[in-house]
Amino acid sequence: MPAPLPPAAPADALPSPIPRLLLTGAAGGLGRVLRERLPAFARVLRVSDIAALGEARGAHEEVMPCDLADKQAVDGLVAGCDAIVHLGGVSVERPFEEILEANIKGVFHIYEAARRRGVKRVVFASSNHVTGFHRQTERLDAHAPRRPDGYYGLSKSFGEDMAQFYFDRYGIETVSIRIGSSFPEPANRRMMSTWLSYDDLTQLVQKSLFTPGVKHTVVYGMSANAEVWWDNHAAAHLGFVPKDSSEPFRARVEAQPPVAATDPNAIYQGGAFTAQGPFGD
Ligand SMILES: NC(=O)c1ccc[n+]([C@@H]2O[C@H](COP(=O)([O-])OP(=O)(O)OC[C@H]3O[C@@H](n4cnc5c(N)ncnc54)[C@H](O)[C@@H]3O)[C@@H](O)[C@H]2O)c1
Repeated sequence: MPAPLPPAAPADALPSPIPRLLLTGAAGGLGRVLRERLPAFARVLRVSDIAALGEARGAHEEVMPCDLADKQAVDGLVAGCDAIVHLGGVSVERPFEEILEANIKGVFHIYEAARRRGVKRVVFASSNHVTGFHRQTERLDAHAPRRPDGYYGLSKSFGEDMAQFYFDRYGIETVSIRIGSSFPEPANRRMMSTWLSYDDLTQLVQKSLFTPGVKHTVVYGMSANAEVWWDNHAAAHLGFVPKDSSEPFRARVEAQPPVAATDPNAIYQGGAFTAQGPFGD
């Protein structure tokens, strides 16, 4: 029997700015935000999506359309990059076959390409839907049992396992950000707990890129909201200190019609995602 492998050594800290940083999902809601903000952290930002991205915005940006389900294309996409912010994929609950292509095969292709191309740091856009079937009365940390609330949440849970495996086996470090609800402002009562402002998202991505020795860290992406369900003590080494809060939006949110106590939005952390599907009956 071969000798057991030594534990993977933590990768060297990334230089600041990162020589070439890949952003997947760059045409999406958060991708458009980070496309504006990540140039501060990289000499070259390579942006990618399956959807239209327009022209490169100057000499410091490269545009490379790519389908995450295409292994060879993803390998070419990652070649020459030093770190990856992986936002691309299906971001809502959908039939399994759609999730399989973009999210499950997609995250495998990203990590395989990272291994082959020597990338040592990934920031993975995971989701609160990994733990969505916990009740809103529970307070969770990164060690709480996962209870994915659909195929989408399952795919993010798989992505986190993929991240752990590629650290244990190959020393590729990842911060998996279980993003709550990152929108310009909280749109409903549930988001009073789950909201993550764009500025706090940007800070969290920056910490996730540059903090040395993160191994595989799981962190909930939320602002400093008054009523939270998640505890980030297990990710304290990131030094993420959110600056914003959903509180200034409370009056506007609470002017909305009340949510029935039997509504999944009032029961489960994952809200309406817990009640979607089945598909294809
Ligand atoms: N916005 C949030 O509040 C939130 C919450 C939890 C998790 N997330 C995660 O963060 C990431 C970004 O979220 P978002 O709100 O910007 O989602 P989004 O749907 O707006 O963006 C996702 C992007 O991925 C692209 N994409 C889909 N399938 C692809 C494929 N096969 N190949 C290449 N690209 C593909 C889409 O074209 C889209 O531009 C997603 O991974 C999402 O699951 C977001």
